[in-house]
Amino acid sequence: MSQYTGPRKLKLLCISGSPRRGGNTDRLLNEAVAGAAGRGAQVKQVILADLDTAPCQHCDGCIQTGGRCVIEDDMQEIHQDLREFDRFILASPIFFMGVTAQAKTMIDRCQALWVIKYLMKLPIGLNKDVPRKGAFISVGGQNYSNLFQGSVATVKSWFKALDVDYTADLLVPGIENYNAITNHPTALKDAFTIGQQIVS
Ligand SMILES: Cc1cc2nc3c(=O)[nH]c(=O)nc-3n(C[C@H](O)[C@H](O)[C@H](O)COP(=O)(O)O)c2cc1C
Repeated sequence: MSQYTGPRKLKLLCISGSPRRGGNTDRLLNEAVAGAAGRGAQVKQVILADLDTAPCQHCDGCIQTGGRCVIEDDMQEIHQDLREFDRFILASPIFFMGVTAQAKTMIDRCQALWVIKYLMKLPIGLNKDVPRKGAFISVGGQNYSNLFQGSVATVKSWFKALDVDYTADLLVPGIENYNAITNHPTALKDAFTIGQQIVS
């Protein structure tokens, strides 16, 4: 039997930072997953609220170890995925003008990867031949003009530390209630398109 498995599929990591399962963020992320899967990508979904992830303690343990966080929880697998995957979507609602605690906890724990990049001067991506690209999906209940400003800055800073290009976002204001996104005229379709584009 042939051992040939065909060309390597692009690997997309989709991370949901919403604690409200099946809510607006999850629905948008599911559309993005469907869009990416339809283009043949290998997709893994991570629901942060289901995982055990402690906040960064700034203990500098990752400096002593050369980039391995000393907190043994589910972030260890996420760290590995963030190095192995090629494309990334983070989806988080706005909580008090920022990303959720679940999302920010995960982002802060990437200080260990920051150490690999900036102190050890090593590449973050383990698959050198494939460009690393990322997108951010967010919703919020209000319509403030600066509603997404802080979160976009945070995600851009995180992507930069991960050697990921911030290539797209979908930022949907005025989405408060559990099912609100289903009444939006374009957001679900736009999320599907982001999923297609991120693996193109
Ligand atoms: C703790 C908390 C803080 C929130 N803070 C904001 C906020 O600062 N601005 C805003 O527009 N919406 C805020 N919201 C509303 C959510 O962003 C909104 O309900 C969103 O649709 C939730 O997405 P989800 O269904 O994916 O959980 C907040 C909601 C919660 C629970």
